[in-house]
Amino acid sequence: MQKAKILVLGSNGQIGTVLCKALQDRYGLDQVICTDIREPKVQRGIFHMVNILDVEKVAQLIDDYKINTIYHLAAILSANGEKNPAFTWKINHDGLLTIFNLAVEKKITRVFYPSSIAIYGPSTPKQNTLQHSSFEPSTVYGISKLTGELWADYYYRRYGLDVRSVRYPGVIGWQSVPEGGTTDYAVEIYHAALKDKHYNCFLAEHTKLPMIYMDDVIRATIELMEADSTSLSIRTSYNLAGMSFTPKEIYESIKKYIPDFTINYQPDFRQKIAESWTETIDDREAREDWNWKPNFDLDSMTQDMLAHLK
Ligand code: SER
Repeated sequence: MQKAKILVLGSNGQIGTVLCKALQDRYGLDQVICTDIREPKVQRGIFHMVNILDVEKVAQLIDDYKINTIYHLAAILSANGEKNPAFTWKINHDGLLTIFNLAVEKKITRVFYPSSIAIYGPSTPKQNTLQHSSFEPSTVYGISKLTGELWADYYYRRYGLDVRSVRYPGVIGWQSVPEGGTTDYAVEIYHAALKDKHYNCFLAEHTKLPMIYMDDVIRATIELMEADSTSLSIRTSYNLAGMSFTPKEIYESIKKYIPDFTINYQPDFRQKIAESWTETIDDREAREDWNWKPNFDLDSMTQDMLAHLK
């Protein structure tokens, strides 16, 4: 395989921040071109300010750096998306098509596009949700991610574009914070536990959701991108499971280490979004096709989060 020369779109987001560093460590600092609409808090390696809708600028970077691999992470998440559906569609959907078309034109060899548990909706079975299930998402974010999955499959079949994708669960890590998602509470709660010893949770206590620790997210992403193309049977997006828990369970996990930590529950509009998603995921295709296996459960994640955030 030729050496990866990587363009990351959305490098300052919750996942981008950590993924860029991992890609730089793995492939070399100069092999990774990070881009975002905002300046990074800490700059490491090569960075350019880019709006993904600015096709010419993205095309120029692909040419200038002889890019052969793209990680397209830029998107507006579920809760923020509901505040401006039309703009969210423009970024999440139109932005994606712009990148897919450029990738075909520029003969990019591999593209990563994250989907999400937000593609599931009220008609999806909540337990051990299968790869092929009923998908009727109720948020604009979910609709855009599901459509993106279908486009990924279409571009693979029609143009041979090697797009790879996973449906990320809610992502939790100490290195960065999410912005505008429904699963953000599971990151906020660790910061609040250490800082205030109290957390006001915007989801109800028994709302179970699929989640995953950042270390597992980064490993899953890189393992999928490095997998042999012939072993991949899914070209929409792979179901991916880490762990599943409720606000009460994560609270209890933290309380083991911070005994005077308190919580109360004040569900807001995000509760309805969370209730439309599933609780547990069956990710057998990822396990079979590219040997996916998560390393972290709720308790090992809590220990690692608290150790780093302290
Ligand atoms: N973490 C995302 C959100 O809550 C789901 O992919 O919007």
